[in-house]
Amino acid sequence: MTPWDFLNRRLSVPSRLLGEPGPDDATVEALVRLAARVPDHGRLAPWRFIRVAGDARQALGERLAALTKAGDPEAPDAALEKDRGRFNRAPLVLVVVARLVPGHKVPELEQLLSAGLAAYNLLLGAEALGFGAQWLTGWPAYDAEVARLLGLAANERIVAFVHIGTPTGPGIERPRPEPSELLADWRP
Ligand SMILES: Cc1cc2nc3c(=O)[nH]c(=O)nc-3n(C[C@H](O)[C@H](O)[C@H](O)COP(=O)(O)O)c2cc1C
Repeated sequence: MTPWDFLNRRLSVPSRLLGEPGPDDATVEALVRLAARVPDHGRLAPWRFIRVAGDARQALGERLAALTKAGDPEAPDAALEKDRGRFNRAPLVLVVVARLVPGHKVPELEQLLSAGLAAYNLLLGAEALGFGAQWLTGWPAYDAEVARLLGLAANERIVAFVHIGTPTGPGIERPRPEPSELLADWRP
């Protein structure tokens, strides 16, 4: 497949279709190296990655369910079950964390964008190696208690939970916007 074909065919594989095996340690390191190969204004490297794998996935899920229960003692069992399983679908979840440098001449938006690119490179890299991947967020990406659980500093934000594993089924194609709907000419 040419690089052009690869890019034009890329798609996410839903996390429920991501099974064993996941990437081994050397492959995770290679993926992180690739994630760092993104445009980065000011060479701030405004990203880092947290691996959630093995037993840690269930443990994190239990803590999410506990947070949901603490916030709403009447939370339905289905919601708690969903939280318990959030990190348990794929063998590996890489949390993409934006490390924002406040007050820098490179605006925080640009730093966040670079972190988004790092997440996207993880998706592309995983797919290039024959894995499937999906970028998920959900409430845990925006919750101060989850940030504390994951050890984030005050200047850090969760950008993505990138779930990675071996596809047990095909990715799901979806309609894509037509370039004609997206592209306009600027004229003076
Ligand atoms: C910032 C961001 C957050 C996302 N969060 C979720 C999510 O929480 N749940 C979900 O089903 N899809 C989420 N998605 C969408 C999927 O990652 C993916 O784009 C979608 O399943 C379509 O797949 P595609 O990559 O093949 O276009 C998110 C995408 C982005 C860019």
